[in-house]
Amino acid sequence: MTDVAATALEAFRTELERLQRDAATVLAAAVDEAAIEAARIEFAGARSGRLKAAQKLLGGLDPAAKPEGGRLFNEAKAAVAALLEVAQERVGSAEESLPPVDVTLPGEILPRGHMHPITRTIRQVQEIMGRLGFESVDGPEVEDQWHNFEALAISPEHPARDPLDNFYLSVAQAADPLLLRSQTSTVQIRVMESREPPLRIVSLGRVYRPDTADATHYPMFHQVEGLLIEPGTTMAHLKSVLRLFASSFLGGDVHVRFRPSFFPFTEPSVEVDMEWGGRWVEMGGAGMVDPAVLAAVGYDPDVVTGFAFGLGVERIAARRYGVDDIRDFYRNDVRFLRQF
Ligand code: DAH
Repeated sequence: MTDVAATALEAFRTELERLQRDAATVLAAAVDEAAIEAARIEFAGARSGRLKAAQKLLGGLDPAAKPEGGRLFNEAKAAVAALLEVAQERVGSAEESLPPVDVTLPGEILPRGHMHPITRTIRQVQEIMGRLGFESVDGPEVEDQWHNFEALAISPEHPARDPLDNFYLSVAQAADPLLLRSQTSTVQIRVMESREPPLRIVSLGRVYRPDTADATHYPMFHQVEGLLIEPGTTMAHLKSVLRLFASSFLGGDVHVRFRPSFFPFTEPSVEVDMEWGGRWVEMGGAGMVDPAVLAAVGYDPDVVTGFAFGLGVERIAARRYGVDDIRDFYRNDVRFLRQF
């Protein structure tokens, strides 16, 4: 064999060795049928596979080198076939060992949430009052002195304005310190300022007072404010509306009791009690809108009359759901909340 022929045979051997190494690497990394099929095409493909290319090199070898070249080629071809088979078996058995999917099994049930009892109470109150013709409106939680106090005839010396009883937001020296509203009566003023009578509105929302939290107090709570301005309105209408509301919300024929009271923005003023399980429970305040308030919003108190009321949402919700500590509403304990 000439030196040239021997060198060509060596190069052929080197190429076949590299081909086998590459095939081993590629197939070791193959994890599925598709990867094995790609390797089969790359190495053993009938038209442009690397073995096919090697076979062409074999044809060009010196006749004296051909027997050895042919033996090397057959060895490489068998090695690639064996590698393919081993990989095929490995992937096949892995795929077979996957647990079969039972498509008839029930799906996973996702836990479903629901409305918070206070939100639910608010919606129910809005719905009941809506049936009585009261439109639901909103007001801001950050208020000024005028809407939280002055227009409601709460004078500068009134204890309700004490910094210890309110969450003032601006410095004490400010002429008109903003505060987190301490009552929803603010919305009466906002609505009357922007609309002409007749009016029937309810407003439900958060109010804030720096009370220490206990079973019946919380620094943030909710109120229902109601306002009706119509000619000829009397306390009898007020009581009827409250009784209809209480009966719808609490169920049964709930009796309502008025006790004389005082609020700067109503005249006369009453405390509203509702009967529940043989007990009278205080739910809020009410009264005929004070002429000073009507005048403050630009109505003529000689012509315009109406009533207003304010109830505690937590109180009526606690009554209805038998909750005896309003802090439970805000603990975010799902074991409590899930009961509703
Ligand atoms: N705003 C009063 C409070 O927070 C409750 C109240 C009393 C509202 C009488 C009214 C009313 O509309 O007429 O204590």
